[in-house]
Order: sequence, then C-alpha cells, then structure tokens
Amino acid sequence: MPCEPGRTSARERFGRADILFADPVPPHPMLDGLDEIGRGEYSIVLAKGDGERVLKVVSSPADHFYYTAEDRPAGPHFPRVFADHGVIGRASTGNLLHLIEMEHLYPIEAGSPASAAAEALAAAYWAACRRWADVGADMGRMALFDLVKTPPVGVTGSLFDGLRALADFIETYQVMPDILSEGNLLVRPDGTLVFSDPVFLG
Ligand SMILES: Nc1ncnc2c1ncn2[C@@H]1O[C@H](COP(=O)(O)OP(=O)(O)O)[C@@H](O)[C@H]1O
Ligand SMILES: [Mg+2]
Repeated sequence: MPCEPGRTSARERFGRADILFADPVPPHPMLDGLDEIGRGEYSIVLAKGDGERVLKVVSSPADHFYYTAEDRPAGPHFPRVFADHGVIGRASTGNLLHLIEMEHLYPIEAGSPASAAAEALAAAYWAACRRWADVGADMGRMALFDLVKTPPVGVTGSLFDGLRALADFIETYQVMPDILSEGNLLVRPDGTLVFSDPVFLG
C-alpha cells in the first residue's frame, strides 16, 4: 500500500515499503561490466558510464507503459527515454524484464529549488492521502486528483502541468501513483525536478 498509517514521516507513511528487487542483473551484452547504481522494488539501474544515460531493467508493466507508451506524459518534468531495447528475460516474480535506455538523473539536493518543490508536493499529497485514507487501494489516485483540482501551494507552472499530465496517464492506464518513495523523483543536472518513477501497478 502506498499509504500505511502508523509510521512517522510522510515518505515512510505513504511511500512504499523498502523492499528491493531480488534478482541479479540479467545476463545481456549491453549490461555486462556496467555499474549498478540503483535498485528499487521493481527495477535495476546501471550507469552507461558517460554520465548522461542509464540502462534500466524494468520488471513492472506500469513502468514499462510509463516509459514507452505513445501517449506517455511529455514535458520538462518527465524522464527522457532514448530507447526501448525490448524484453531481455523474465523476473523471478514472473514479470517480463524490459530494458530501457534513459537519461541519467540524480538525487535531489537538500536546500535546492527542486527540493522545495518536491517537499511542497509531498506535503500536499500526504494531506490529500489522509483525506482519502478510507477508500483503500484508490487512495493515491484520489489524492492525486485532489491535487490537480486544487493546485497545491508551491506547485506551480510547468510542475503543476506535469502533475496534471501524470494524473491523466494514471487514469488512462489504471495504474497507481507513488510520488513519495525514495528516489521516485530525481533531478537533471540543470536542477529540473523529474518524475522518474511515479507509478506502480498496485
Ligand atoms: N534515470 C536514472 N538515473 C540514475 N539513477 C536512477 C534513475 N532512475 C532510477 N535511479 C535510481 O535507482 C533507484 C531505483 O529506481 P526506481 O525507478 O525507483 O525503481 P523501482 O521501479 O524499482 O522503484 C532510484 O531510487 C534511484 O536511486
Ligand atoms: Mg521507485
């Protein structure tokens, strides 16, 4: 559940559990010898080594839609995807492993404008989650729609447009938002906040 009561911080309460994808990097000529720089519940991220691109092994169908769908959200706050290298195996969970080549993004720096925007977004989302806590699995979606109806303080301009595009995608693909878990929002080297991994299948 993206909203678990009884924990302390917004991220801990409404982010997802700290479970990591357990499979090893699948053998593949494009991945051999690359450094693993990130891992989440559904993905493994390897640096291409040029500082500009990563290869992401994706086991969640929701993520695959998000990175490759023709009608995926566009704009400055969405990750740039350079290539879909196709299916490279199957995870122990049974899901197909897709290999995506995308821009190398970086952690949000404390005290930066992107950090302030991410905090404002998290605070508004958390408050909305609390209002919808008793609808169960639809909570995150409902909370996101609340935010789109009423622009949260500190979430303006292109970021608000991005939030609206994300809500549209979530509605179209019937996936769930997760904009609170560690590492799901990252930044470009120029400081632009990017929704790098904001959906899951539920
Ligand atoms: N494009 C990227 N560039 C660099 N690191 C990334 C990128 N995407 C994700 N990461 C890192 O990998 C971790 C796992 O990625 P994430 O997209 O959250 O996967 P999951 O779908 O498993 O949650 C993130 O927390 C982040 O640290
Ligand atoms: Mg994630």
